[in-house]
Amino acid sequence: MATIQGRPVGILGTGMKLPERVVTNADLEKIVDTSDEWIVQRSGIHTRRVARDGESNAYLAAGSALEAMRASGVGASDIDMIMVGTNSPDTLFPGVGPIVQSMIGATRAGGMDVQAGCPGALFAMASAAGGIASGIWDNVIVVGSEVMTPLVDQTDRSTLVLFGDGAAACVMGQWREGAIRVTHADMKADGSKGSLICFPGGLAAEPASERTLREKRHYLKMNGREVFKFVSRELPDYLANFCQSCGITCDEVDWWIFHQANIRIIEYVCERMGIPMDRVVINLDKYGNTSAASIMLALHESLEGGIVRRGQRIVISSFGAGMTYGAILAES
Ligand code: ACO
Repeated sequence: MATIQGRPVGILGTGMKLPERVVTNADLEKIVDTSDEWIVQRSGIHTRRVARDGESNAYLAAGSALEAMRASGVGASDIDMIMVGTNSPDTLFPGVGPIVQSMIGATRAGGMDVQAGCPGALFAMASAAGGIASGIWDNVIVVGSEVMTPLVDQTDRSTLVLFGDGAAACVMGQWREGAIRVTHADMKADGSKGSLICFPGGLAAEPASERTLREKRHYLKMNGREVFKFVSRELPDYLANFCQSCGITCDEVDWWIFHQANIRIIEYVCERMGIPMDRVVINLDKYGNTSAASIMLALHESLEGGIVRRGQRIVISSFGAGMTYGAILAES
């Protein structure tokens, strides 16, 4: 059952914070054996942001949270919880959430990370919606924040060209006139496919050692072709069923905000579902795959840019390491 029951839940404001450095495909041609043509054809990505020293995950997350707070008019002392969807925390612990709590001066708030692959921020939004609807929290900051660059092998052309860094956030609270209303949410996992995207080394299962370094176990590993197959097989039916459980048809959705992994996956899913591409928000050409930050960046830019207008329905959907996937229905 995807319906959010209880107090009405809204997205009250959004914000983003990007690293300053822009890396083009031409820049990557100088590092690995690749070409602008290959990257654009296979992924749709032209540029991505890359964090420098000082632009930590928490720094980007806090910057986006502050912007979302300004947009929402909710002050730091009114925040009850900070949930950061991330797969690249600065340290395993403390998490990014508690650090952001301190950086933004949210003295009454809790803080936590939601590590669920690329849908981390979507899972955080769904959880925040449940907590707000039931009255546990009044105001929650949800952030998607990633500094993926250090986790990606800079000599592996198959992953290096795809990922980027950045953060975006929203303040969620009780719905009020003019806010986006979050009405339905659903989250799924298929842990049997965990090996398709993984980060095997450096933690409890394979503590850092000469071997883990030598074998580059401390970098993201992805079987791109199998991820492509999994997503294109699962997502269309899943989203059709999600819409049905929300009491709408896919045609009644005005805007689709997908995880910005790869234009070809998005095009394939849309073709299978009969969704015209002019109803799909795309910004992966500028930012690449920013993992958990991606749907939040796309949501922020589509609201900020006036793409999503009043009275329109939005489905936000993400997929990634786990494998995990999920969807949220919201109305502007
Ligand atoms: N530049 C040039 N050639 C490359 C590059 C590159 N950057 N990367 C790989 N190649 C080569 C390969 O070595 C291979 O060469 P070969 O045929 O001589 O062996 C050839 O290109 C084809 O490689 P494939 O991996 O089969 O290429 P494919 O068409 O499958 O595209 C891609 C790869 C873009 C990764 C695709 O599989 C894909 O999009 N998969 C989904 C990945 C995804 O969405 N991940 C995100 C979800 S999870 C998350 O966000 C954490």
